[in-house]
Amino acid sequence: MQKQSQWKTSTGFILASAGSAIGLGAMWKFPYMAGIYGGGAFLFMFLLFTLIVGLPLLIMEFAIGKMGRTYTTKIYEKLTNKKWLNIIGWNGNLAVFILFGFYSVIGGWIVIYLAHVFMQILGFEQGPLGHIQFEQVIGNPWITIVGQGVFILLTMIIVMFGVESGLEKASKFMMPLLFIFLIIIVAKSLSLDGAMSGLKFLLQPRTEDISMDGVLFALGQSFFTLSLGTTGMITYASYASKEMTIKTSALSIVLMNILVSVLAGLAIFPAIGAFGYEPTEGPGLLFKVLPQVFDEMAFGTGFYFIFLILFLFAALTSSISLLELNVSNFTKNDNSKRTKVAFIASILVFIISIPATLSFSSLSSIQFAAGTIFDNMDFLVSNILMPLGALGTTLVTGYLLDKQALRTYFGPDRFKLFAPWYYLVKFVLPVVIIVVFIVQLI
Ligand code: PHE
Repeated sequence: MQKQSQWKTSTGFILASAGSAIGLGAMWKFPYMAGIYGGGAFLFMFLLFTLIVGLPLLIMEFAIGKMGRTYTTKIYEKLTNKKWLNIIGWNGNLAVFILFGFYSVIGGWIVIYLAHVFMQILGFEQGPLGHIQFEQVIGNPWITIVGQGVFILLTMIIVMFGVESGLEKASKFMMPLLFIFLIIIVAKSLSLDGAMSGLKFLLQPRTEDISMDGVLFALGQSFFTLSLGTTGMITYASYASKEMTIKTSALSIVLMNILVSVLAGLAIFPAIGAFGYEPTEGPGLLFKVLPQVFDEMAFGTGFYFIFLILFLFAALTSSISLLELNVSNFTKNDNSKRTKVAFIASILVFIISIPATLSFSSLSSIQFAAGTIFDNMDFLVSNILMPLGALGTTLVTGYLLDKQALRTYFGPDRFKLFAPWYYLVKFVLPVVIIVVFIVQLI
């Protein structure tokens, strides 16, 4: 059975692609990256890249998906008659595969924290939430492997049984609830002693904090949060109904993503000083700081529990898009093979996720290139494979596709945005990506 029109309405499509975009990238990765690469300077570069590079690329991926309407290891051939260009689709597939491998590590941490807070609610564990010592929890290889196994299993079950549509319905209230919770945490965080210095750190860009690494990672971050360059968004757009509007969908996803990233930053940074952390804590930042903020709240344990469920939900709506891309490519959209492919892909992801998780415990001493095995997996995906995939797609769009056909898929153009978008994609963005890429290799 061909699965070419999964979402009957535009809203279904927006919810699913917003679900793919908004996840660990905005809530976990953004604060920790901003902490390392200069706070306000990083936020500024991230905003710039997201609006000038990310938004046009997202529109481009939606247009390609809508035009090609097939799985992404075939779509490039279908659109250009050049088989070798399917390599862009394979690059994306490889990227999401590795990405899922390290994404599940953090998904697993959420599962573990949820289990701890649940035990507390039942009275099996005592003491403040802050007692859930990060190193103690994350440094235990067995527990983390079980945690990520559960996360991968949940993703697999959802994708296997094709219950994504149920999830989209759920996201109609889960997402707004997540916004509300983030706002509550921000309010609490801002009320803590010493909040001002953290706030300034995040909101005040200081030119002396801009580094070449910061520029690279800010670009990588905007690719990561918008799921760009993996062809994941092309896949979702290929499932969507013909009526979906690509510009407004892309703009709303970009704005929501920025909002969640900024809220996550506002939740974390003001609290950092109050609890004696450094912004440069790395991947554990959110998991160390947040429990302490909830400790300061009335009914903190209950609130933290609900927050973790919402956080897990946001991570799952992203991880299902990672697995869905594999399913779409390896079943060639033949639904009868769905269960088998989802199962095999999940097992393989679980295997490669083990060295990633051990980077925080027994393999932490293995350091090379970008850092630990986990850091290198992230770097390979966010800073190499995703930009490469996006570069390939900009070149195909700018030089091989028919401009008039693109214009049709771009949709009604009241504000005459087609021409600037087209020239940006054709001439400017490839150069930006190549320059950043070369600088990074040097
Ligand atoms: N955008 C997702 C997040 O921020 C991660 C992702 C990347 C999902 C690429 C799909 C494809 O959490």
